[in-house]
Amino acid sequence: MLFSQRRIGARTALGRTWVPAMVPWRATDDGFVSDDVVDWYGRFADGRPAVLVVEATGIRDVPSGPLLRIGDDRFVPGLARLAAEVRRRSGGETLLFLQILDFLAIKRRPERAKFLRRFLGIDSGLRTRVAARLGDDCVASLDDAAFRERLVGATDDDLRGVLTARDWESLSVGFRERVTDTDVPHVRELPAVLPGLFASAARRASDAGFDGVELHYAHAYTMASFLSATNTRADGFGGPREQRVRLPLDVFRTVRTSVPTDFVVGCRMLADEVVVGGTRVADAAWFATQFAAAGMDFISLSKGGKFDDAKQPAVGEAAYPYTGPSGHECMPTVRIDARGPFGRNVALAAAVSTAVRAAGHDTPVVAAGGLNSFEIAEAALARGDADFVAAARQSLADPDWWLKMRSGRGAEIRRCEYTNYCEALDQRHLQVTCRLWDRLRVPGEPEPKLSHDGRRRLVPPVA
Ligand SMILES: Cc1cc2nc3c(=O)[nH]c(=O)nc-3n(C[C@H](O)[C@H](O)[C@H](O)COP(=O)(O)O)c2cc1C
Ligand code: SF4
Repeated sequence: MLFSQRRIGARTALGRTWVPAMVPWRATDDGFVSDDVVDWYGRFADGRPAVLVVEATGIRDVPSGPLLRIGDDRFVPGLARLAAEVRRRSGGETLLFLQILDFLAIKRRPERAKFLRRFLGIDSGLRTRVAARLGDDCVASLDDAAFRERLVGATDDDLRGVLTARDWESLSVGFRERVTDTDVPHVRELPAVLPGLFASAARRASDAGFDGVELHYAHAYTMASFLSATNTRADGFGGPREQRVRLPLDVFRTVRTSVPTDFVVGCRMLADEVVVGGTRVADAAWFATQFAAAGMDFISLSKGGKFDDAKQPAVGEAAYPYTGPSGHECMPTVRIDARGPFGRNVALAAAVSTAVRAAGHDTPVVAAGGLNSFEIAEAALARGDADFVAAARQSLADPDWWLKMRSGRGAEIRRCEYTNYCEALDQRHLQVTCRLWDRLRVPGEPEPKLSHDGRRRLVPPVA
């Protein structure tokens, strides 16, 4: 089954093999496709997966460092070059999708005294709480500068006791905007602006020659936050799941009408948020049936990857959503627990598939997470747990592994060790490579292009 055809919307995938989105930190600082981006995706195309999804790409025209962007027509020529390279190197066998996303602001963890002296908002409630906590009524009437100095001198325990939960978060991990911040105009207006932004981005992806887009409704980003059970917006876009799904459906419908009918439009969503108070698989299955009923072309599943339980970053660094328990579930390592990472999320995909089929839809479901062998993949497909098998890190370890399996050369596959050296590079926004090949040299090959630190080759050798 792994190498059998399957419809995705109006297109036919030549197999059930799928490389999901992975940010490799190779775009230019202005978000353009670089030669390194083209080389990177060309190398994945050599392995001829049925579907290749290009990394999370920002839909807004705002500076966002070396993250790919598609918020303006000026980004189209570079993306077109990428699409042409994938078509050429896969011999036209690989369907190419672009993952498009929106994200809210996140600030670096501030230096303690600077935050208390300059950024913390002061009101009478805070003054009263500080006076009570320190047992000193005079504190409440100090001028602002003196009051702030008292806070600088306070213990962390005292600060945690007097600051609002949000201010304590801004101090201890860095400020993070939420979809529930509806007092902020641009957050309030998200339901009005996002459908148009996603639709323009999708139209550009189509112009650039991509076969489809994957709407990023997963992990720590805006659309996942609308779907989340933690979304309590009171404007009809939060609260019960019928309201949380409204904006994701609006975005999908606007995108659908903005691109040609044979252009694939699917989404990536979470089968389980894995955070306290978050969405579990029952809600995820219900969301998936709503998307299928609306005519979405595929549903790709992921798990976790939230800010809510991320580790405290060092001062001067931003929180990273793959550091806590939910992040570990997103990219599980061999150390996660006795069960290990292998095929870890297949049961979630099965639950979602069952719900989608029971509602009468044939929409393909994509499973991911520790899928690293023909046996696991084929068994999941044969049971009907999923329609596509997505492998991120195994494809990074050996982009040719699909071809090797297909041609009976399984013993030659370079097997991922699932210890997340690659993810650690991603966390530091360094060019992502794999420890199994980034120091390899093949006798006779031309000198490979190296990372900025001059130590690691940027694409794997042909082996
Ligand atoms: C370096 C790296 C970057 C990633 N970037 C993205 C991304 O841009 N979008 C996304 O949906 N998932 C991203 N992921 C998650 C993967 O797509 C995948 O869901 C996860 O690694 C689990 O699959 P695996 O066990 O096959 O690696 C990334 C994973 C890695 C290792
Ligand atoms: S660096 Fe480690 S976890 Fe990442 S792809 Fe390579 S072997 Fe797998």
